[in-house]
Amino acid sequence: MLNTLSFPEIKFPEGFVWGSATAAHQIEGDDINSENWYAEEQYKEKSGKACNSYCLYKEDIELLKEIGHRAYRFSIPWSRIEPAEGKFCKQALDHYQDLLCCLKEAGIKSFVTLLHGSMPQWLALKGGFLKRENIRYFERYVEYVVKVLHPYVDSWMVINEFNIAGSDANNEYALIRANNLIAHAKGYHIIKSFCNKPVSSAHALRCSQPENPFDKFDCIFAELDDWKTNEFFFHAIRTGEIVLPYTEGEYVPELRDSLDYWAVNYYNRNIISARKKSSASVWYTATHQKMIDKDFYLEEVFPEGLLNGLQRLKDKPVYITENGICCDDDRWRILKLASDLAAISDAIKKGVDVRGYLHWTTMDNYEWSSFVPRFGLVHVDFKTFKRTPKNSAWFYKELIELNGFDG
Ligand code: NOJ
Repeated sequence: MLNTLSFPEIKFPEGFVWGSATAAHQIEGDDINSENWYAEEQYKEKSGKACNSYCLYKEDIELLKEIGHRAYRFSIPWSRIEPAEGKFCKQALDHYQDLLCCLKEAGIKSFVTLLHGSMPQWLALKGGFLKRENIRYFERYVEYVVKVLHPYVDSWMVINEFNIAGSDANNEYALIRANNLIAHAKGYHIIKSFCNKPVSSAHALRCSQPENPFDKFDCIFAELDDWKTNEFFFHAIRTGEIVLPYTEGEYVPELRDSLDYWAVNYYNRNIISARKKSSASVWYTATHQKMIDKDFYLEEVFPEGLLNGLQRLKDKPVYITENGICCDDDRWRILKLASDLAAISDAIKKGVDVRGYLHWTTMDNYEWSSFVPRFGLVHVDFKTFKRTPKNSAWFYKELIELNGFDG
């Protein structure tokens, strides 16, 4: 496979961590209807048994070994751990302890996310993280999990992609992003009180670009989009100040420096036009619809956005905690892998301390509203749950073994 495309020789630093990532709701299945996303699925394709990974986790670890992964990021669903307010399920915690032990035995490093995309329905009904007073429930959950699991986990991630949460309506996004930041900081300090493992939260790095670079309004709107997507987060972690457009700033001392590494999820860019209402979300909706339109699954391959974004993060180690593409034609995945890894290698040469790469995603799974977009290195038959590695999985395995490309 490597011979059919020509790549320059690229070697990653010794000890570079290679693996892939998943999230509970997208792979586990089993209808945990205590989770709020099940309510969201009412008008969508339902996740049902997804990849049936809650039952097949041991097979999945064998699969990770077969395709050569050395690290695995997965999430713990809060709703399994605390299905009803204050009622904790020890059995569910035991399940994740076993999963972690199996990973250790297999020599695979674990990255564990404590909140990825869904929360318990009982909390959603109380307003979720739109209400600051609800953060205390999160603290209690984090403490319950970390107290038991910390000896088995290599690296923690408190919340996934909260920097893009919430809609623009009534400035809801500002409220929820600020509360998420505070929940992150609380989670960070709770984890640190139990162990000295590295802790982060995944940032959805979106490179904001004006649709027309000669239109000054598009340029201003792109800057604004970058601020509310990227810069507010970097700034908050560096200074403790939460500053979002159209809101009063807030200083939260415990937020400052509450992150041991930047965890970067990167897919593509936001194309911003000042003439359209809320361009960023228009862009997202447009792409998403195209993805599930069946005639266009392809997302953009845009390594420049990753290179530029990474260069803003020279002050701490960086792990790429998600990066991938949904496509039926697996050659695009190989192109995406090769192009974005070349950008990461350039960033390292330019002084960014990137220490690892986790591809999104290990296997095809439930993409929050549909099974149609396939992001996996491994194909999943959603009827039989049979897993079949794609060419990209073998390409990636070779790359991992070589710690880069041979050229
Ligand atoms: C980021 C999210 O963390 C993940 O859950 C999702 O499946 C991927 N993006 C692809 O859209």
